[in-house]
Amino acid sequence: MQAIYLVKNGKTKEAFEFRDIQMTEPKDNEVGVIVEASGINFADVVARLGQYQDCPPLPTIIGYEAVGRVEKVGKDVTTLKKGDRVLAFTRFGGYSQYVTQQESAVAKIGEDMDAGKALALATQYSTAFYACSVATNVLPNETVLIHAGAGGVGTALIQLCKLKNAKIYATAGSESKLEYCRKQGAHVVINYTKEDFSEVIKEPIDFAFDAVGADNFRKSYKLLNRGGRIIGYGAAAMTDASNIFSKAKMGLQFGIYHPAQLLMESRSMIGVNMLRIADYKPDTLKYCMESVIQLLHEGKIDPHVGKMYAAKDIYQAHDDMLDRKTMGKIGIVW
Ligand SMILES: NC(=O)c1ccc[n+]([C@@H]2O[C@H](COP(=O)([O-])OP(=O)(O)OC[C@H]3O[C@@H](n4cnc5c(N)ncnc54)[C@H](OP(=O)(O)O)[C@@H]3O)[C@@H](O)[C@H]2O)c1
Repeated sequence: MQAIYLVKNGKTKEAFEFRDIQMTEPKDNEVGVIVEASGINFADVVARLGQYQDCPPLPTIIGYEAVGRVEKVGKDVTTLKKGDRVLAFTRFGGYSQYVTQQESAVAKIGEDMDAGKALALATQYSTAFYACSVATNVLPNETVLIHAGAGGVGTALIQLCKLKNAKIYATAGSESKLEYCRKQGAHVVINYTKEDFSEVIKEPIDFAFDAVGADNFRKSYKLLNRGGRIIGYGAAAMTDASNIFSKAKMGLQFGIYHPAQLLMESRSMIGVNMLRIADYKPDTLKYCMESVIQLLHEGKIDPHVGKMYAAKDIYQAHDDMLDRKTMGKIGIVW
């Protein structure tokens, strides 16, 4: 059995190393899962680059999700048994042929569920569901702005907001991504490499979902309606900052806000970090995962699997994600 260790921050070839691992015993409230496929998220790329403060010290195994079969069951586990096919939210450790995880972060999935689609549910769809249905709630006919709409979380947000009958604006960085966003349900699509979204959008926005950060966040905030909310859940732009000065400059580009201003304007800012939700509100994470699994079973959402790479091609998968070549979910198959 093997796992992919992150041994060095930087370029993919030097960053990852395949190492043999043992099947360890799960704790009393955990299960041990033999993994068939592991998901890749943008946060993994940020961790590889050494820009993710939550990443454990190296060498470590990164990765937020895995699909597989329960092999070992802790004595306090009540809802899972050996042989169950499951999706696990792994909070690091996912790039491995064997993971242990507490019961509350593991959900049963159907035998016939596509592994790539299932992987999309753990982090990306659960994050999107939390952002638009738990932390706040999008109502019919409200206007939403979704940045990086062709990405994993972006796809999930478009599909979930479409279910809510919202009017959807989506941004992306190429014509093929715009076409993809349209197919997912976006009403207005904007290529941010050619146009400034803040000039194209002529009506107030009720919700802005932003994981790009810097001036993207500030411009999105300015578009907010009274009663509008901006949900910040990432800062992909920061990966472009090569030194502490450009990082500080980008930090300032978010803008400076005072609580009295939010009150007077009746606007809200909501920060989302699913790791913190997993740590402090495990039942909420479970609720999000089970809700999106249910929506998939009901045919109301349909995760798009951009590509499943062979595990040996982890290097290419990471390069493609950072180079903005991916759409929807990507992962590796063991
Ligand atoms: N807070 C949380 O709990 C949480 C959970 C999951 C994900 N996230 C965040 O949500 C975002 C999306 O995650 P994901 O896994 O679904 O990834 P993804 O959207 O599938 O991939 C990242 C996309 O971001 C866009 N992008 C914008 N600026 C970029 C830059 N400077 N470098 C590279 N890409 C850039 C690219 O799309 P375009 O080509 O259209 O620009 C790229 O395809 C990430 O920022 C991630 O960190 C946060």
